[in-house]
Amino acid sequence: MDLDPLAGRRVLVGISGSIAAVKVPALVSALVKRGAEVRCVLTPSAAALVSPVALASLSRQRAYLDADQWSHTAARPLHVELAEWAEFVLVAPLSATTLGRWIHGLGDTLLASVLLATEAPVLAAAAMNTAMWSSPGVVGNWETLAGFERVLPLGPAEGLLACDRQGTGRMAEPSLVLLALESLASWGWQRDWRGRRLLVTAGPTREWLDPARCITNPSTGLMGVMLAQAARLRGAAVDLVHGPLQLDAAWLEGLSCHPIETGEELQDALAALQPQADAIAMAAAVADHRPSVRFEHKGEKERLAEALTAPWQPVPDLLAQMVQRRCSPQPILGFAAQSGDVLPQARLKFRRKGCDLLFANAIDQPGSGFGSSTNAGWLLGPGEDCRVLEPMGKLALAHQLLSALAEQLALAQQLNEVNGRSA
Ligand code: CTP
Repeated sequence: MDLDPLAGRRVLVGISGSIAAVKVPALVSALVKRGAEVRCVLTPSAAALVSPVALASLSRQRAYLDADQWSHTAARPLHVELAEWAEFVLVAPLSATTLGRWIHGLGDTLLASVLLATEAPVLAAAAMNTAMWSSPGVVGNWETLAGFERVLPLGPAEGLLACDRQGTGRMAEPSLVLLALESLASWGWQRDWRGRRLLVTAGPTREWLDPARCITNPSTGLMGVMLAQAARLRGAAVDLVHGPLQLDAAWLEGLSCHPIETGEELQDALAALQPQADAIAMAAAVADHRPSVRFEHKGEKERLAEALTAPWQPVPDLLAQMVQRRCSPQPILGFAAQSGDVLPQARLKFRRKGCDLLFANAIDQPGSGFGSSTNAGWLLGPGEDCRVLEPMGKLALAHQLLSALAEQLALAQQLNEVNGRSA
């Protein structure tokens, strides 16, 4: 069974006039490799920047230009044909001009008329010069677009632009665009987390014995980062506190990142960020003990043995601390990475930690646990609630966990209102 939500899906890629268009052939190639059917539509300015021949070759389909719209051999209007063919539309890059056409209902290019005609969900990845991006017309149009049904807007990132300006305007990296498209395919465009702040932890912690050696674990941080991006795409502001990650750095774009290494640094970051959070997801794999001796310089082998055999200090249970410390309805999702018989151990851990939800998975089974792109397990909730989550990609799983967390948040807020009224 293919767990990739993009496999076998029909994706129309619309390319408009921004230098970021040169990144699109790689994106098209990646989509095709994942089993998607791809067709490309270029505006006249995009066709001056990137070769329609290259796009045709990479997509195994002809690439469409404005002139094709007026071909006398077409039996049906091409923009309607393409709009109805697409299961998803990806506009990358979305230029200021194509954005303006779309917002104002103008269909004077093939791409512009496809955007008006399509009823498919659309992912729009903007790219332009910094000053253009902050000009009032574009700001207004982008805000209007964010209110459109079925549209997932992916704002540009900061960086060095082709015009030599340093600032916001660079199109999201192709790997992040692909992730957003996967999110559109597995969850949709609804931004139910808008106006909320989620605090997420991800990755391993490290406890150092000396400057060269540490105790850690094989967590890559994928589950936590998928939760953070899924929440961001659903409209949340996200604080991501993360240990050393083994992931594509582009997946951190758009998040407020707080890198840490040790359990103590994680504890400090959580104490500072918890009060602002509406909800918390603790996906970090925290090392449970730290050595009581830490050498300033790289230890001799005998001294290292001394550090390893001296009594170790426990790292406090940070999840349990946060449950104790919260003073507003602030649902908390914990994780339990288990080997052996997962469920009984997870139930005990759930009770011990006191969090609202706990996702437990096996780390000794193929397709779940550290470093795997997929996961499966059990989601424990209030009372005896236990949902089995079948194997799926970690982004799709992140969306399911976020929906459960959003439910807890809504319940907690309702309860708060009822208590407020009866007080
Ligand atoms: N956790 C935490 N602080 C710790 C250890 C774990 O906040 N010192 C959090 C993790 O982020 C995760 C949950 O607690 O959300 C469970 O982590 P896990 O490593 O599975 O369990 P432990 O509490 O470490 O228990 P054990 O190692 O005995 O399984």
